[in-house]
Amino acid sequence: MNSKELYEALANHEGDARFSWFKHERHGYPPFIFNLMTGKDRALLYQWYTETQEQWPYGDGASGFTTMSTVAGFLLGSGIRSMVQCGHYVGFSTIVLGLVFRYMGIKNAMYSMDVHETAHEYTLKWVQRFGLGNYVHCVLRDSSDPANIVDARQYFSGSIESVFIDSAHTYSHTVKEINIWWKEISPGGFMFLHDVSDIAKSYDVDNRGGVKLALLEHLDEFSCQAMLINSKWKNGSIYTDPCGLGILQRPLGSSLV
Ligand SMILES: C[S@@+](CC[C@H](N)C(=O)[O-])C[C@H]1O[C@@H](n2cnc3c(N)ncnc32)[C@H](O)[C@@H]1O
Repeated sequence: MNSKELYEALANHEGDARFSWFKHERHGYPPFIFNLMTGKDRALLYQWYTETQEQWPYGDGASGFTTMSTVAGFLLGSGIRSMVQCGHYVGFSTIVLGLVFRYMGIKNAMYSMDVHETAHEYTLKWVQRFGLGNYVHCVLRDSSDPANIVDARQYFSGSIESVFIDSAHTYSHTVKEINIWWKEISPGGFMFLHDVSDIAKSYDVDNRGGVKLALLEHLDEFSCQAMLINSKWKNGSIYTDPCGLGILQRPLGSSLV
């Protein structure tokens, strides 16, 4: 399957939010990440879309190619060698970014956590199908558990150059994640947070302000370079993910904050 064939199959597929990127009026082309994949990967990805639609029918929880293209651009543009991922769900971002790391030739590149046992098992199955076992490592554990730090450090051959947070979405859990992972990122490295928009605040089951508030408080506390994309999303925004994306860079030359 080539990139255009996969794009057309997904754009013409009836279905839920998983397929919306391919139907958006701005996206009349395959995401560039398709071009880093083999024909077999693309056929498998199509199977992933159709199987998750059947087996995880309310599973719109995966991020999409707006987020993946942005994050992959950072990885590819700067040769970022490691990523801690909080929340893999049924494997979308783990597989897509795992394939990007494979393209870059970087093994032991992604350490990913989730607490949902069935989703975790499902992700493991797909990681194996894609042959990504040398590139990503998935664990069943709360992503705010500091025990992950030791394991993640052991897994990577170098330091942690990026963190991607897309997990519980509550204010309190995001605060804990930011607190444990921010100080682990090497100076100049990145933290990406999905769901920083006002509308994504509704994903906070405690209704306390979600990822956005946790992030804004963090910015107040530590001075760092940051961009909150679509934080005040409105219909017609050029960036096509209403959930938004936060991108923070750890200050250079600082070891602790
Ligand atoms: C939005 S989904 C992740 C989607 C994934 N990043 C993707 O793009 O395909 C959120 C995931 O976070 C997981 N999660 C919720 N609470 C968590 C916690 N305390 N620790 C780790 N993962 C958690 C959920 O089980 C769910 O699978």
